[in-house]
Amino acid sequence: MAPYDSMRDFAAALEARDKLIRIKEMDQDKYELTALSYKLIDRMKAKAPAFLVEKIKVNGKWHESPVIANIYNGFDNIAQCFGVARLSDDQAAMYDAAVGKIMSYQDKEGHWATMEPKKVDQKDAPCKEVILEGEAADLALFPWIKNNPGDASQYISTGSVIMQDPELGRNVGTYRMQVKGPRKVGVYFTNQSHGYKFMMQAAERGEERVKVSVASGIDPISWMMSCTRLTQTGDDEIAFAGGFREKPVEVVKSETNDLSVPAHAEFVIEGEISMDAEKEGPYGEMLGYIGKEVYTFTIDIQAITHRKNPWVFNVWPGIGGAYMTLPWDVSHYTQMSKMMPNLVKLYTPIETASIVVISIDKQLPGQGIEAGMMILGTRAVGFGKKMVIVVDKDVDVTDMSRVMHAVGTRWQPVPASVLVNHSFHIPIDPSSREMFLSSKIVIDATRQLPSEGGPETYPLDNRAVVEEQAPEGFEQVEKNWESYFKK
Ligand SMILES: Cc1cc2nc3c(=O)[nH]c(=O)nc-3n(C[C@H](O)[C@H](O)[C@H](O)COP(=O)(O)O)c2cc1C
Repeated sequence: MAPYDSMRDFAAALEARDKLIRIKEMDQDKYELTALSYKLIDRMKAKAPAFLVEKIKVNGKWHESPVIANIYNGFDNIAQCFGVARLSDDQAAMYDAAVGKIMSYQDKEGHWATMEPKKVDQKDAPCKEVILEGEAADLALFPWIKNNPGDASQYISTGSVIMQDPELGRNVGTYRMQVKGPRKVGVYFTNQSHGYKFMMQAAERGEERVKVSVASGIDPISWMMSCTRLTQTGDDEIAFAGGFREKPVEVVKSETNDLSVPAHAEFVIEGEISMDAEKEGPYGEMLGYIGKEVYTFTIDIQAITHRKNPWVFNVWPGIGGAYMTLPWDVSHYTQMSKMMPNLVKLYTPIETASIVVISIDKQLPGQGIEAGMMILGTRAVGFGKKMVIVVDKDVDVTDMSRVMHAVGTRWQPVPASVLVNHSFHIPIDPSSREMFLSSKIVIDATRQLPSEGGPETYPLDNRAVVEEQAPEGFEQVEKNWESYFKK
């Protein structure tokens, strides 16, 4: 039952719902896990189960440590993490249920719930079942995955990087880590990240090395907090996780530094981040392309602690979409709805993160374009989005077939579009000629009013007519849904 204290508890709950499959062995030297990730999503989309591979071949060696992946696929899985009681495969309903839960953790002033973590002793911390220090801390003992032949090497793809700053407090963020040697990894802090801000703050104090602990395979809500930026200030994600869990996260002191780490993690990697920049990448990135080589920080590892028979939690960015960053979308929605009372929903399509779809309760001419420009003009939200599609409130923003139907039937490219030649953008968009710059577009796919150049009367939408004039049919089918599939 939610809240889950560990990734394993959540995996067991997924298995009980038939959303986790176990596979005896796979050869990642032949990219078998990668192919499975693609094929599961190709064929099953949001219904694709998580998979746990018990034995994996990596770099010519069979490892007994399992690899688990695809555990946050589908809004039903996200709703499950937040304790939604009635789960189903109706993605629109599960999206609404999960969003409702997340929004319930924000007060009227926009503050998110927090709860300080609870410190536990080493003996009560599963992540300390095995402690490897110095030479014994060897990354080659574990099956870290090289996702793609185009990647520079194996990556630790689910590390929650924990740092503490005397002025800024604690930060927990997910940043990719390239395996560079038995005790050395790269860590890629983009310049908008709080990890980067913490490094710059330490540099200003003249520090050459920064203590760090990285937890991988943590409880689901801590993981989601680590992947999202709920505020621009770098507040403590572990405290947010406690607030959202309504139960503190159990933490334990690291072996070689004073940083507290989630006690139920599969792995904790401890070390020091050096200020010296080194080459990192390329890596198959979130937008679905092999990114450019970059210069970034490295961590010298001093200790690895882990559970017995630890599970490597891996993600393939760009395959299946990022359901686990839903709290980020919700925080964007709540920020924007303060300025835009007619905003109904805001959704980043799981198919591609550089687009955002919003629905509005349109009352006046011009409100579609106005809404799109507000999204593009708000850095925290518009950063990384190069297309805003604005639809009427009767369109389900989470269903891209409905959104495309609206674009195809309610949008007139002229005059219902705004083109922006250059604006600030994420650095990993392969179509950008200049890093951090992109052209952008607002597509106003709301029904155009006559004063906007639209028709005098808009024809009725087929489905809306049935929903409004014969709702019993839908209610009946929903009620009997499961019975249709009983054998
Ligand atoms: C699987 C995954 C990998 C990510 N990799 C990176 C990365 O390498 N660098 C980065 O700056 N952000 C990365 N992000 C995005 C950050 O996790 C996200 O911006 C988070 O809010 C960072 O924490 P911060 O807000 O405290 O900086 C990644 C997100 C996910 C889900």
